[in-house]
Amino acid sequence: MTNSHNQLAVETRELVKRFGDFTAVDHLNLRIECGETYGLLGPNGSGKTTTIKMLCGLLKTTGGEALVLGKRAGDLSILPRIGYMPQETALYLDLTVHDNISLFGEIYGLSKADIEQGEAELLRFIDLEKWRNSTIANLSGGMRHRVSLACSMLHNPELLFLDEPTIGIDPELRASFWEYFQALRARGVTVIITTHYMDEAHHCGRIGLLREGRLIAEGTPGEITEAAGVQSLEDAFLALARRGGGDEV
Ligand SMILES: Nc1ncnc2c1ncn2[C@@H]1O[C@H](COP(=O)(O)OP(=O)(O)O)[C@@H](O)[C@H]1O
Ligand SMILES: [Mg+2]
Repeated sequence: MTNSHNQLAVETRELVKRFGDFTAVDHLNLRIECGETYGLLGPNGSGKTTTIKMLCGLLKTTGGEALVLGKRAGDLSILPRIGYMPQETALYLDLTVHDNISLFGEIYGLSKADIEQGEAELLRFIDLEKWRNSTIANLSGGMRHRVSLACSMLHNPELLFLDEPTIGIDPELRASFWEYFQALRARGVTVIITTHYMDEAHHCGRIGLLREGRLIAEGTPGEITEAAGVQSLEDAFLALARRGGGDEV
């Protein structure tokens, strides 16, 4: 396989993660180009979060290789270039929305002016301007999720990992999130997003379907449904899972 330097946002080769004798990610091969909006889809427990955490350098790999922006996952030099929105929001509950966002900006070494400008823009986007001075503890789960998204994007990363960003969010906001992700794509940002909502997959350029840590299909949503001979991705997943001889999805 030729290594095309910075062409690929993410490349994994036979990536494996085991917890004890349980294999959570099983010989995963991904090639995601810069500028793609790539969806990692699969039911709970299929290995989405584990994969993202390895790519962000938060979990050690058990085997295989993981390259992010041409560097080994976890290489500190890529951290300023990537953003990560964890599935479990990592915010300080006792601090305000503003303080949390500022803190992230400071961690990334942004200037005060950049933090202020970025914060104003992002608060408008997540529609939480009125809540700027409220503590996180006083916000609903969906609002916390929105703050977490803002924190992951403040430093204008060129590659964003979003782990189930739309979970537990009302349909209207989900739709506006996807509009924003499309706008990011238009700006050339690579977005790697996980979801277990199959109906969200059509927003992605390409998707990979994960099941029990293995990639069972990959392509554009249209390619996958066509190959499975069904109408919807949900049906495609079920058909592919059945072919895999599994007992649950
Ligand atoms: N730290 C851990 N120790 C043991 N098992 C884990 C750990 N983290 C995840 N797992 C297991 O690995 C599998 C994949 O988990 P995860 O990547 O969180 O799936 P997903 O994000 O697709 O829901 C699950 O069966 C989960 O229970
Ligand atoms: Mg997960």
